[in-house]
Amino acid sequence: KVLILDFGSQVTQLIARRVREAAVFCEIHPNDVSDEFIREFAPKAIILSGSHASTYEDHELRAPQAVWDLGVPVLGICYGMFTMAVQLGGKVEASDHREFGYAEVRAHGHTRLLDGIQDHATLEGHGMLKVWMSHGDKVTVMPPGFKLMAETPSCPIAGMANEEKGYYAVQFHPEVTHTVKGQELLTRFVRDIAGCKGDWIMGDYIEEAVAKIREQVGDEEVILGLSGGVDSSVAAALIHRAVGDQLTCVFVDHGLLRLNEGAMVMEMFAGKLHAKVVHVQAEAQFLGHLAGVTDPEQKRKIIGREFVEVFKAEAAKLKAGNDKLQGAKWLAQGTIYPDVVESGGTKTKKAITIKSHHNVGGLPEQLGLKLLEPLRELFKDEVRALGVALGLPADMVYRHPFPGPGLGVRILGEVKQQYADLLRRADAIFIEELRGWKDEATGKNWYELTSQAFTVFLPVKSVGVMGDGRTYDYVVALRAVQTSDFMTADWAELPYGLLKKVSGRIINEVRGINRVTYDVSSKPPATIEWE
Ligand code: XMP
Repeated sequence: KVLILDFGSQVTQLIARRVREAAVFCEIHPNDVSDEFIREFAPKAIILSGSHASTYEDHELRAPQAVWDLGVPVLGICYGMFTMAVQLGGKVEASDHREFGYAEVRAHGHTRLLDGIQDHATLEGHGMLKVWMSHGDKVTVMPPGFKLMAETPSCPIAGMANEEKGYYAVQFHPEVTHTVKGQELLTRFVRDIAGCKGDWIMGDYIEEAVAKIREQVGDEEVILGLSGGVDSSVAAALIHRAVGDQLTCVFVDHGLLRLNEGAMVMEMFAGKLHAKVVHVQAEAQFLGHLAGVTDPEQKRKIIGREFVEVFKAEAAKLKAGNDKLQGAKWLAQGTIYPDVVESGGTKTKKAITIKSHHNVGGLPEQLGLKLLEPLRELFKDEVRALGVALGLPADMVYRHPFPGPGLGVRILGEVKQQYADLLRRADAIFIEELRGWKDEATGKNWYELTSQAFTVFLPVKSVGVMGDGRTYDYVVALRAVQTSDFMTADWAELPYGLLKKVSGRIINEVRGINRVTYDVSSKPPATIEWE
């Protein structure tokens, strides 16, 4: 496996993604781990990330000595290149201004890392690479034993290598997609240079993960909050595979789920997988607490709080009534790798709260339970592949994300049962039509072509005409976005024919809604959800 040392760049996770895409397992750890940690990790290669720090002069930001003592290949990226240069006896020159953006680097001489990897070649036969650069400081003197690997007019040492030792460094970022051949370069490094096999596949992972869960849990009991979302579903399926009936899933139905979702979750887990699932029907409790509340943040807080209350009560019942005497000892959660890295990073800047996300942090301590998080090492696409390998239906595993507070944030203002029922039906029509509408050019349907799509209930009435009569009914907005990270998003250019069909069906089939609009706002400045 490969060790990625994180110096605090915004894109370190992308390095891990690319390495995993090369079918090589890797983990990200902070740059200041101990030498013992690195020796125990026994990496086949090490990658040093970039950093938010604008200068190499921060002496805290260095790679541990073990990196250089292990005798394995090392790749330095951006800041990683600076620290490699400085630690091995080269020089970096500080500069006040920083340059970002596209650049073309020219390969210099032959190196194992870059040979044959190029976007085009110059007349003299030099390989040219289109890359994403972000540099201010520059390496001005290479350490002894290094040779020049790449250059640009503004950055004469844009890449360097000590091939004997397997040390490579690039000033640009191969992990971002703007660097066209970045994936090839990283694959070359981990597979050809470091000799990693490229056999990281989900099938094998199941056995390993199952063994690990069994060892961790022993004969103790586990409880898990099932939400119907991808992560908790895959976690449940995996833990069930490992410990069977020692797992009890608690499915809290807050009455703000999509149409037939409750039945679907029960059918899948209780019906097909034969897992123990407690279905808590708490609709009345949630809607009761939400009555009269219109403020979005307050609604989220209420839903989050009630969720914890219900879950705690169920867990207490399970603990008390357990026939194995010891009761539940573990709380399982579908935490995935991006959650871990985001919350664990000491270097991430504190973001302002735009929306307080539903989370159950602190729950394990309150319940006196140990935390079991079997998906902690996986990215979303890996979690999905794992779900399919575990036998979950692809439809479920490839669903769009659904927020914890559910329809609670898709009904503007006060949440009422009547609104939720209308919204559920309208939303089901929208999703059904998206799935059924194929795009000729790509062969994919529009559910696959969008990252998230849903319907929003607007508690305003407008006038319409139906048959001979006048109607005075509610409005819904359709929302469909395309995004790779949900931090920014564009509204999807859905075909007019599709919009027309959806609108026609909703207005005809859902009595109580007589107007459909389409949301054409990007994020930012709008957000994906309306509340
Ligand atoms: P926004 O609306 O902030 O949403 O652009 C970005 C993504 O986050 C999801 N979202 C949530 N997910 N609990 C969740 O689990 C929440 O409270 C929550 N709020 C927003 C949203 O659906 C979108 O995918």
